[in-house]
Amino acid sequence: MSGLATVVNIGFDGTAYQVTAGRTILVALEEVGLRFVRGVGCRGGVCGACTVLYRLQDSHQLRAGLMCQDEVHDGMEILALPYIPQKKAIHKLQLPEGNSPEYQVLSLYPEVNNCVMCGECSRLCPVGIDVMGYVGMIKRGDLRAAAQHSFTCVQCQACVLRCPSSISQPNAALAARRFHGRYREAVADHLGKALEKLESGYYRSLFRKVRRLSAVEFQALYQRREREPDDAPPGTWLPEDRSLI
Ligand code: SF4
Ligand code: SF4
Ligand code: FES
Repeated sequence: MSGLATVVNIGFDGTAYQVTAGRTILVALEEVGLRFVRGVGCRGGVCGACTVLYRLQDSHQLRAGLMCQDEVHDGMEILALPYIPQKKAIHKLQLPEGNSPEYQVLSLYPEVNNCVMCGECSRLCPVGIDVMGYVGMIKRGDLRAAAQHSFTCVQCQACVLRCPSSISQPNAALAARRFHGRYREAVADHLGKALEKLESGYYRSLFRKVRRLSAVEFQALYQRREREPDDAPPGTWLPEDRSLI
């Protein structure tokens, strides 16, 4: 059996590359020499910074993906998205006199009522969220369900691109999670403890120490950081410091 890795042909921003099969788009492109100083963040499928649009060779469907998560396929054509213009979601959490949290979210994002239920947003979401579903939940005033359904949103904004009703689904969902958390969920004791720790200056002194490190010392500290092992079964890992749990 040959030990040679299988090679696939892909297009990225209009340039053809031969890359190794089985890699994520990000790793495959880095292996052939590309360096991403923008458009990549966490590398773990969380931040949404590495959003791309792509088509596969055997499908007419336009898809959205995350470079750090989606694998390369032969004949794939990929377009990196520099950013998607949006209004920053700033939400004042005080409710105007007489408004419920549910009504307030609808007042902030009345355009959710224009959803024509085309399903394009759900088809495009790179993390598989039923976007149309949570838009409907916000319309019905079910903020708990909307918060739960949208919880894994990485704010990549891909769903916004295809919406014929110009709805900013991720921002409306963010408002649903914020207002639901503020007014409908029990107070989170551990959050209060975390705030106390923050206000005590604990992190300020740590931050000062980190700022004095050289780049090499900083990298070494980063490598030694405590982190969840990749192979830990979901929900089993706990950090050493459990004071905030
Ligand atoms: S809901 Fe929209 S913004 Fe959130 S991850 Fe899915 S496509 Fe991206
Ligand atoms: S793309 Fe827009 S109109 Fe279509 S289902 Fe999603 S939110 Fe509704
Ligand atoms: S780099 Fe953060 S989701 Fe890919």
